[in-house]
Amino acid sequence: MPLFTILTLFPEALEPYLDVGVLGLARRRGLVQTRLIDFRDWTRNRHRSVDDRPFGGGPGMVLRPEPVVESIEWIEREWGPHRKLALCPSGATFSQPMAQSFVEEPRLLLLCGRYEGFDERIFELHQIERVSIGNFVLSGGELPALCIVDAVTRLVPGALGDERSAQEDSFQDGETLDHPHYTRPRTFRGLAVPEVLMGGDHAQIDAWRRKQAQARTQARPTPGSHPTQPNNGAF
Ligand SMILES: C[S@@+](CC[C@H](N)C(=O)[O-])C[C@H]1O[C@@H](n2cnc3c(N)ncnc32)[C@H](O)[C@@H]1O
Repeated sequence: MPLFTILTLFPEALEPYLDVGVLGLARRRGLVQTRLIDFRDWTRNRHRSVDDRPFGGGPGMVLRPEPVVESIEWIEREWGPHRKLALCPSGATFSQPMAQSFVEEPRLLLLCGRYEGFDERIFELHQIERVSIGNFVLSGGELPALCIVDAVTRLVPGALGDERSAQEDSFQDGETLDHPHYTRPRTFRGLAVPEVLMGGDHAQIDAWRRKQAQARTQARPTPGSHPTQPNNGAF
């Protein structure tokens, strides 16, 4: 059962999302555990400030190393060693195979940065992997941490109502996208559900879905490229 320990300055921002849907249910069923730790509690100065001006000058503030390192050490003393991930735009891009590898970990520690990010020395003192959720910059690591917790939890056996949902999701084999989905009504604003899905011939339905998934995968713009035009629901 994965235990996610999240180090953040804003635990209250994470709690509501962890409580709903697949994640909330998985936590209540004891399939995953989450702990939110505010590393401001490890500050020693009167104002409880966690950041300071960058050496060398320049804009913004940097997270001081002491509260981050001391909270990591406290967490590992309390609950044992964790695989440690720092959310950083400069990290390896998070992916479905990475989520698959994290689900095997008994304990994951997610460090949410703020301001200009972490003092570099935390990476020298502890083995911490940098993980990014894409080539864009957010104000903090909380949303990236939630992305990871969510994606990993979906892969924990029993977390989804039907195990096949995760197996058929996009990227399960590394790249193939999911096929299109339809539900009632049969016709909506003049648009009918493809006939093959109504026929009840499961071999034909599987073949149609495979073909659609392949076509979607091939038509997908290169990740990171700009959308040039709306796809008008083609895929
Ligand atoms: C404003 S950002 C810092 C950006 C940093 N100066 C840079 O350009 O790489 C503050 C924090 O948000 C988080 N963050 C922002 N974008 C992210 C992304 N794409 N992936 C993961 N974490 C991100 C990180 O924890 C980061 O320390």
